[in-house]
Amino acid sequence: MESFRLALAAIVVALVAAQSDPAQFVNALIGTSDGGHVFAGATLPWGSVKAGADSLSGDNQGGYVSDGSPITGISQLHDDGTGGGASLGNFPLLPYNTSQCANNDLTKCVINHDARAVSHGDPTTSPGYFGIPLNNGVHAEVTVTQHAALHRFSYPIGTNQQILLLEATRDLPGSYRSPGNITVISNKLGGTRVTGTGSFAPSFGEGSYQVHFCMDTKIRFAQAQFFRTVGGAVTYTALQTNPRVNFAANIGSNSPAGLIFDFSSTETLSVRMGISWTSSAKACAFAEQEIPDLSAFDNVKNAARAKWNEVLSTVQVDNTGVSVETQELFWSSLYRTYISPTNITGDNPLWASNEPYWDSFYCIWDSFRVVHPLYAITAPTAQAEVVRALIDIYRHTGWLPDCRMSLDKGYTQGGSNADSLLSDSYTKGIKAGIDWETGYEAMVKDATVEGDFTLEGRGSIAAREKLGFVPVGDTNDPPNEGPNTRSASRLLEYAYNDFGIGLVAQGLGKTADAQHYFNKSRDWFNIWNPNATHDGFSGFIQPRSADGSWYFDPRYDLNNVFRPDHCSPVFGHFDCFLNPDGGEFYEASSWEYSWFVPQDMATLVTVMGGPKTASSRLDTFFDDGFHDIGDEPGFLPTYLYNYVGQPGKTVDRVDATLTKYYNTKTSGLPGNDDSGAMGAYVVWSHLGFFPVAGQATYLLNRPYFPHISIRNEATGKTATIIADGLSATNKYIQSATLNGKPYTKNWISHDVFTTGATLHFIMGPSPSDTWGTGKDDLPPSLSTGGFA
Ligand SMILES: *[C@@H]1O[C@H](CO)[C@@H](O)[C@H](O)[C@H]1NC(C)=O
Ligand SMILES: *[C@@H]1O[C@H](CO)[C@@H](O)[C@H](O)[C@H]1NC(C)=O
Ligand SMILES: *[C@@H]1O[C@H](CO)[C@@H](O)[C@H](O)[C@H]1NC(C)=O
Ligand SMILES: *[C@@H]1O[C@H](CO)[C@@H](O)[C@H](O)[C@H]1NC(C)=O
Ligand SMILES: *[C@@H]1O[C@H](CO)[C@@H](O)[C@H](O)[C@H]1NC(C)=O
Repeated sequence: MESFRLALAAIVVALVAAQSDPAQFVNALIGTSDGGHVFAGATLPWGSVKAGADSLSGDNQGGYVSDGSPITGISQLHDDGTGGGASLGNFPLLPYNTSQCANNDLTKCVINHDARAVSHGDPTTSPGYFGIPLNNGVHAEVTVTQHAALHRFSYPIGTNQQILLLEATRDLPGSYRSPGNITVISNKLGGTRVTGTGSFAPSFGEGSYQVHFCMDTKIRFAQAQFFRTVGGAVTYTALQTNPRVNFAANIGSNSPAGLIFDFSSTETLSVRMGISWTSSAKACAFAEQEIPDLSAFDNVKNAARAKWNEVLSTVQVDNTGVSVETQELFWSSLYRTYISPTNITGDNPLWASNEPYWDSFYCIWDSFRVVHPLYAITAPTAQAEVVRALIDIYRHTGWLPDCRMSLDKGYTQGGSNADSLLSDSYTKGIKAGIDWETGYEAMVKDATVEGDFTLEGRGSIAAREKLGFVPVGDTNDPPNEGPNTRSASRLLEYAYNDFGIGLVAQGLGKTADAQHYFNKSRDWFNIWNPNATHDGFSGFIQPRSADGSWYFDPRYDLNNVFRPDHCSPVFGHFDCFLNPDGGEFYEASSWEYSWFVPQDMATLVTVMGGPKTASSRLDTFFDDGFHDIGDEPGFLPTYLYNYVGQPGKTVDRVDATLTKYYNTKTSGLPGNDDSGAMGAYVVWSHLGFFPVAGQATYLLNRPYFPHISIRNEATGKTATIIADGLSATNKYIQSATLNGKPYTKNWISHDVFTTGATLHFIMGPSPSDTWGTGKDDLPPSLSTGGFA
């Protein structure tokens, strides 16, 4: 009896806890091996500082990698889930034991970046916290505020020497260059303060950036050495223990430099690291303001977790009958969608402005599809700031970015997808403080003025104007400085970006502009080759040459037979990147890109041969291996059965995709997380609907929780989704009501979230013949009168 009552109490507690402390379900290590590149360290939502361990591994884009490789330091800044080279990882700290510095001689420590790496046990993580036991006997922990990290190093009991390395010239890729400097003084706490500046290179962009730190301890060092490496030879300068300013140096390029301290104390060593993009004085001010007490590690850690719970809990789910694994997958995925971009409002050194400044858009090509649409319903205040920041970047740099990191311009992957990010927010009524006229001006500039499309805007504007498509190898269209590749996928994205411009024009009352841009969005059809055939289907997106002829890539389309499966997982999967020989499709095949007409799926279905053919073509696309869920263009196709009136097949496809490709292991992602994009796919798929990014349409799947509510902090309204009878087998919608009225469409519009509607599903064990299957139930398309 007693144990029964206890068990009941435990169930009640679990339910309540699920609502108030979703952080308990977050496993930050998901995606930290096998190419997920997830950042597992400590950050606040959109935090400027992201502190965590760095692994000596080829897979360390996010810092820590769950592959057993040793740790080279605990650094202060990271990005989440990026491909390409490793990003940030600046100003690492590494605690040493005396055996790593022979005879306590600080000039004999192993400081070389790779040679110093220490093996370790399993890390412990929670939102805002990262801890790792190092095999040199030191337990390293870190927690954060918005602009500062608080490190706690617990040396083995009985040790009274706390040796610590700070490498001031290091980031993950080793990109340090001049100018940089370091200054050591005594601080107000009677301890040691190190301030400094470093210059580094962005990992997927051009130029360089400067970032500044301010490190404080409460303890005065007993001995310290400044080291500098020139031409392979390390020189040391011993620091005086007493004078207030006891050391200052400028550091040149190719000159690894830093400090080794011995704090000789019996206390746990607490190290505060403030970071600023503006100055080291600002880094100190942030740190003093946000973490006044260096001993308050647990308070800082608890405050970070509380902040996470506040941001996570705009979504509430009833976990009745839902496995712990599913809850862990859901909350961990939602958590990752809030790591990037970073909010560095008030710390932008590039221009003076009262607008917000956000960084680490890495890259919008990935995030416009799923991350920013998610913010539109779960974090609309943040999304409004993101939009304002993007428009302000346009004001001050002349262009909306496609990719932007560490204050620098990043490389454009395809279209000018900030246009679709903006149209997504615009159509969802995100207005707070946004100057939409200037936003619209920025979008029109993307469509009409050509810059260096390596970094911004679009290429081949003139050629497209003349031909109606982007021709292969267009070099006659100055300045057109980007690589003349990706002509087919770029055209599809440009056409869809134009559709977004049309939506914003329409909303702003610019009717003629709206017609013009909707018209331009039809250009995708100019590279639709009805005669291209593959695997039993005809009609594919195929590149074209400027003379109008269909293009055959001599490397793959042998004997002039076009291969729509090229760049898919089954043929030449990794041929299509941002290289001069990257081909005409970017990171996906023609099989996959041939589905990318979200503005007019009705016409696409027609030219494919009608709903029956389009449906079996989707089956073949998935079953024969042409679909790639490891990259963002693969997300939307899993929902496209709704456009042929078969929402039950969407349920099956999404279910199979989640089961096969996503789990809670460190290897649980099918590709790079790409600033939370993979996480956002999982979140949407569990909520039961998926955004057609750039428009206010959501395609219905089915929820994985019996009751979900989403609070819109901007309007104060809560949208509720109820799935009656949901179980592992009852996963198909039989009927639905919206605010009590019968609802048969297999899509919803954003009104559900702005008005706080209730969507109520009755679930059953097999797909319904009637719900969501009729002509009038299909999602909107331009050619069938949608979007009017
Ligand atoms: C010191 O670190 C080394 C590895 O870096 C380790 O082998 C040794 O056991 C450590 N000593 C103590 C006392 O923990
Ligand atoms: C360090 O370098 C930065 C950037 O060049 C500069 O603004 C700052 O004044 C320098 N600080 C010192 C102490 O030399
Ligand atoms: C972004 O940072 C600014 C300045 O610290 C702050 O006022 C704003 O609330 C932050 N935005 C979000 C969404 O947290
Ligand atoms: C739309 O495009 C067609 C064909 O290119 C053209 O004839 C028509 O004038 C365009 N309409 C608008 C409003 O731009
Ligand atoms: C498709 O092939 C037919 C028959 O050869 C030809 O008449 C037609 O022009 C081709 N269509 C395209 C768009 O190339």
